[in-house]
Amino acid sequence: MPIYLDNNATTQLDARVLEAMTPWLSGPFGNPSSVHRFGRLARGAIDTARQQVATLVGVSPDQITFTSGGTEANNIALQGVLSASPVKRLVVSPTDHPCVVEPAEMLAERGAEVDWLPVTNHGVVSAADFAASLSKPAALVSIMLANNETGLIQDIPTLAAIARESGVPLHCDAVQAAGKIPVSFSELGVQLMSLSAHKIYGPKGVGALVLDKAVDIKPIVQGGGQERGLRAGTENVAAIAGFGAAAELALAELEERRAASQALIDQLDTGLATMPQITVFADGETRLPNTRQFALAGWEGEALLMELDRRGIAVSSGSACHSGTGEPSHVLMAMGIDRDVAYGAIRVSLGVHNTSAEIDTLLQTLQELAR
Ligand SMILES: Cc1ncc(COP(=O)(O)O)c(C=O)c1O
Repeated sequence: MPIYLDNNATTQLDARVLEAMTPWLSGPFGNPSSVHRFGRLARGAIDTARQQVATLVGVSPDQITFTSGGTEANNIALQGVLSASPVKRLVVSPTDHPCVVEPAEMLAERGAEVDWLPVTNHGVVSAADFAASLSKPAALVSIMLANNETGLIQDIPTLAAIARESGVPLHCDAVQAAGKIPVSFSELGVQLMSLSAHKIYGPKGVGALVLDKAVDIKPIVQGGGQERGLRAGTENVAAIAGFGAAAELALAELEERRAASQALIDQLDTGLATMPQITVFADGETRLPNTRQFALAGWEGEALLMELDRRGIAVSSGSACHSGTGEPSHVLMAMGIDRDVAYGAIRVSLGVHNTSAEIDTLLQTLQELAR
């Protein structure tokens, strides 16, 4: 059996999630905006899911806007807040996912002032740098909770307190953190947050933007007024129902999943530490219990990925979206990692189906490939 160690790219749909989705694919087909009984049935499924997703991050259901995924949630956050604000300045973390970085670059091309936060060579944004970047007014500051490549977890509560003092809303991409570590909207102290279903054993193509009710934001897609006018378009009822079920399971099983993942990552860390040819990125920082990014001396990441794939082990060479571009990871570049070392990066991301025997196989294979 091939070994799947790429759970930050996507996860396998949970059979219980599929069960929650199936009726909405094969049975009631009404449009949730229709007032008749067909519509009301579909609306009920969305209401249930909205409650389940809200509970995962500790907000009220009316703070949830369903989107087509984390990418769209991030785009609405950046573009929607900027267009509603008289201040045309954004502050963004350069290690954020491309679906934050690229909208920020596009907005800069269209005339917005975009400032990039400095990060340490482990990808950490310091409180002092953060405060300095907010000494000038900004419409929004965007910084992710957990990095999809290195797994680094930023100290969002501290940064959010600074943002609040400066009166700047903070958007936090929590796509990789949700379901892996506790994520509470109010404890983090953020005003906007993005989530995605397919990273937590839910379906692809559905996510959510979580909003503080005081945030001024405009839609980027106009139309039928769905999602309180913030995200027009007839809802994907089955996917949303699946997201709700996945969110409920992620919360109920959080501790169990986290402990199992931590045990496996400890096993991986112990093995990697015995190999002098390995460089682990963001080493020693607080990281997700499922994610490690490292380079094996003498190997390019893409070549190592292909060799591991040939031997039945699926990993990533960084952000899945960047694979195949031939460019080293923008995250490692922002961290100031030497280009040649960054070219060697691969990412291992664990999920609920992984076993200790699989970690042993990975470590043994890396030993065989070490030069
Ligand atoms: C941190 C982060 N944000 C956003 C996304 C995009 O989410 P989606 O695939 O649901 O659009 C990803 C997916 O890789 C991610 O890792």
